[in-house]
Amino acid sequence: MSYQIIDGKAISGQIKEECRIKAEQYREQGIEITLAVVQVGSDPASSVYVRNKKRACEECGIKSLSFELPIETTEKELLTLIEKLNADTSVNGILVQLPLPEQIDEDKVIQAIDMKKDVDGFHPMSAGALCTGQKGFVSCTPAGIIELLKRSGIEIAGKECVVIGRSNIVGKPAALLLLRENGTVTVCHSRTKNLKEITRRADILVAAIGKPKFITADYVKEGAAVIDVGIHRNENGKLCGDVDFDSVAPKCSAITPVPGGVGPMTIAMLMSNCIASVDLSREIC
Ligand code: GUN
Repeated sequence: MSYQIIDGKAISGQIKEECRIKAEQYREQGIEITLAVVQVGSDPASSVYVRNKKRACEECGIKSLSFELPIETTEKELLTLIEKLNADTSVNGILVQLPLPEQIDEDKVIQAIDMKKDVDGFHPMSAGALCTGQKGFVSCTPAGIIELLKRSGIEIAGKECVVIGRSNIVGKPAALLLLRENGTVTVCHSRTKNLKEITRRADILVAAIGKPKFITADYVKEGAAVIDVGIHRNENGKLCGDVDFDSVAPKCSAITPVPGGVGPMTIAMLMSNCIASVDLSREIC
């Protein structure tokens, strides 16, 4: 079967360009969109993500403010900074890069962010809004998955959608978004029995497992669309996903590669959330 490779790099480029145009229109109205980026410590992976997020802001004409705090920062100090950013009317979005050092309670920090500035969509109020169909920010990676499907012409309504993974950041919101798009959704996880039987029913399969090349051809129905959220480095230093691309791709109608699939979408959707923050902050009660 011939398959479509879903080009996340190209689609994320389109979204960032749309964001750039909207940011420019806001600027003409005297509104400068500003994202506060907070990093505690200097974990190398986090530093790469933060650098890429700030670069995307530059590309889109979104102002970014950097708060680089030392690894020994206390929870109280971080909460004080968040209170200040919540109160600062010139700040539209607040992003606290995770993970945080062990002396800081991540849940407490996420809950301290004003829901109207929660561009990561991690606040329980944002999660609750998604669950109940109200307005709120949507977590960037799942929002990116939906954009990849829509912009690749893959219909979700009425389809069997199977999500493997139930994290608060990817699996659960991805399932809720597919449901919102009228998919018939099943969520699988580490305790699921007969996983293969379930994944083989999927028209749309979302793999957010965290195990390299876990999904082989025998997990996939002929003609399925496969979205790979995993990112791993193999023994040769090469990137791979949760899906064994070479064996799975020939069975699919569409598949995301790693790298260049879901990855670039996370930052594009962060930019999109920053733009949306102008309207959302007025609409969220
Ligand atoms: N750490 C890993 N991924 C993310 C993300 O999407 N947002 C934040 N804030 N931290 C992360």
